[in-house]
Amino acid sequence: MSEQSIGVFDSGLGGLTAVKELIKVLPQENIIYFGDTARVPYGSRSEETIKKYARQDANFLLSKNVKLIIAACGTVSSVATELKDTLPVPFTGVVIPTATAAVNATRNGKIGIIGTSATVKSCSYKKEILRQNDRITVFQQDCPLFVNFVENGFISEDDPLVQLMVERYLSDMKKNGIDTLILGCTHFPIIAKAISNYLGGHVRLIDSGKETALYAANMLSSHNILNQSNTLGSCSFYVSDTVDGFMHTAGIFLGRNVSEEVTHITIE
Ligand code: DGL
Repeated sequence: MSEQSIGVFDSGLGGLTAVKELIKVLPQENIIYFGDTARVPYGSRSEETIKKYARQDANFLLSKNVKLIIAACGTVSSVATELKDTLPVPFTGVVIPTATAAVNATRNGKIGIIGTSATVKSCSYKKEILRQNDRITVFQQDCPLFVNFVENGFISEDDPLVQLMVERYLSDMKKNGIDTLILGCTHFPIIAKAISNYLGGHVRLIDSGKETALYAANMLSSHNILNQSNTLGSCSFYVSDTVDGFMHTAGIFLGRNVSEEVTHITIE
C-alpha cells in the first residue's frame, strides 16, 4: 500500500499550495491532484452543493487507488465534515492541523481567521480552536474577493488594488490586536506578503496547506503507509476545466513550472 499515491483535491488551484508543502515534507511520495477548476469557487455555494462536489472529488481520487485523501480546501474541510466517515482510506482536511498550529502559536490569545464565506459561516476553525483552548478570543472575517484576485493573478504586494482589498478586509482584525492569523483558505498564502505587510511582522500567519502537509506526514507514519522508496515521487494533475487554463496559473501556486502531464476529466 505504501507505494500508492496520496490523493489531494481542491475546488481549483489553491490546493497546490498544500502540494508544494507535501513535496517538501514527503519528497518520496507519489501525489495525484484533482483541481475542480470548472466549478471553482466552492466558497459561495450552498452546503448541499459543496458536499456533493466533495463526494465526487473524493470518488475520483478513490478511482485512482490512493492511500490517503487530503481535502486541501478550507471550504470542503469546513462544510463536508461527514466525508471522512464514509471513506475507505484515511482522510484529513485542513481545519484541525491549522487550528492546532494557531493555538500553539498565539502568545496573546487573540487569533484571527480568514476564509471563504462558507468557511466563516461554518465557524469550523473557531469551534476547533475553542475546543482546544476556550480562553482564546477569535475574530473571523470572510474574504471572498481574495479567491478571485488570486485565481486571476492579482497577487503582488505592490499592487494598490491588492493593498486596498487587504486593508478593507483586515482593518478590524488589526484594530483588535490579533497576534496570529489563520489563512483558512488554500488560496490565501499566495498573497501572504501583502497581508503581512499590512498587519505587521509581529502577526504570525498560519498557512493551512503547510500545516496540513505536516499533519499528513504524521498520519502516514501512524498508519504505517509511508513510502519508504529512495527515489523521488511523481505528481499527476487532473482538472475539470481546460488544461491550458491550469498551466497558465498553476506555477504561481506550486512555486515552480508544471512539467508533468495534466489531464482533463469530467467530474459530474
Ligand atoms: N481553495 C478554497 C478554500 O480553501 C477556496 C476557493 C473556493 O471558494 O472554492 O476554501
